[in-house]
Amino acid sequence: MRTVDVIQKKRDGLELTSDEIKWLIEGYVAGTVPDYQMAAFAMAVYFKGMSTREISDLTMTMVGTGQQIDLSAISGVKVDKHSTGGVGDKVTLVLVPLVASFGVPVAKMSGRGLGHTGGTLDKLESIKGFQIERSQEEFIEQVQNIGLSVIGQSDQLVKADKLLYALRDVTATVDTIPLIASSVMSKKIAAGADSILLDVTVGEGAFMKNLEDARALARTMVDLGKAVGRRTTAVITDMSQPLGTSIGNRLEILEALDILQGKGREDVTEFICELGQIMLGLANVEKTVKEVREHLFDGSALQKFEAMVVAQGGDLEDLYRSSSAKYVVEVTADEVGYISELPAMEFGLFAMRLGAGRAVKTDVLDFETGIVFEKKVGEPVKIGEIVAKIYANEKISQELVTEFKKNVKISNEPKKVREIIEVIA
Ligand code: URA
Repeated sequence: MRTVDVIQKKRDGLELTSDEIKWLIEGYVAGTVPDYQMAAFAMAVYFKGMSTREISDLTMTMVGTGQQIDLSAISGVKVDKHSTGGVGDKVTLVLVPLVASFGVPVAKMSGRGLGHTGGTLDKLESIKGFQIERSQEEFIEQVQNIGLSVIGQSDQLVKADKLLYALRDVTATVDTIPLIASSVMSKKIAAGADSILLDVTVGEGAFMKNLEDARALARTMVDLGKAVGRRTTAVITDMSQPLGTSIGNRLEILEALDILQGKGREDVTEFICELGQIMLGLANVEKTVKEVREHLFDGSALQKFEAMVVAQGGDLEDLYRSSSAKYVVEVTADEVGYISELPAMEFGLFAMRLGAGRAVKTDVLDFETGIVFEKKVGEPVKIGEIVAKIYANEKISQELVTEFKKNVKISNEPKKVREIIEVIA
């Protein structure tokens, strides 16, 4: 078999055999298929797509390029959750302890942020001492003992994805359904949970810009999960504006703590409780959203979060510390009306420039910086009212404030926002 023939076949829109896919992916991991040929293949997939059978073969071949975690030592139905990426997305920080507070074990491997999107691991690392690197034994033992753990993905898992994702990132081939679906599902399948909740984001700040594509991605991933015996449900959620009020690592931890104490914004609280209900259902625990919410108000979810922080070496005092950013700049409205748009991508990139995100993988983060919105889409605003606060460690110029304001769109009409757009099971 020659790599060039496989690339050409895909370039011409033909269906690859299981053997061709296996040969290509295994060759890439072994180093016999070079980056430039894999990049050409990824671009061919971007333009020509893949059949359901090809995506399934690609996913399972990728799973086979690394270790698979065996969670069978943990009793009960293990549930996992994955988001296809977003801005201000602190859902995992609340949802994992919330679900664990009902006795459902959550053993979760998370990722880091890149570009305009944030990563759960970076947020957790903003807590002094928090360890995201754990051996598999420690990870499993912690879930056995306290019911939850969030750690970094092991290097030994899905080696093909590590290589391929880095390549896609620099060859404009990330945002294509076959490659996203196989990347996400290979990791979820290898991570070993029995049930999987997929949060497929849609909108300006997400990989999927429209509902039709988000639906297709969700359907593809749900079918991949079910085909290998994992109960899988996807929710399509809005990422046209940042999620909740804050963007930035320490700031998002603080917002998560507010939500965990029942003091968060109503919309994001309700949204996470709805996800909680679905995730619990995937573990055969049927609860109403109201019952799920109770665990925010009675402290049980917070207790789980704190237990996880302590178990992973985090400092509980530091957990509740405010951001130490040197400058806090208030951005006020110049018009009266309703907030009509807060483009997630623009604000994600803005936060990245403040040091809250990485432009390239090797960038060192400033955990303290970011943005806190006081107004979200659909809310009324008066001239001079604070729309957001910018947390920075470098002085913020007037030009930067003007640039920020340009992205805060105000109109005469109120606008309705729906966090969960659709559920695909
Ligand atoms: N998240 C992933 O893990 N992989 C992708 O390809 C896109 C989002």
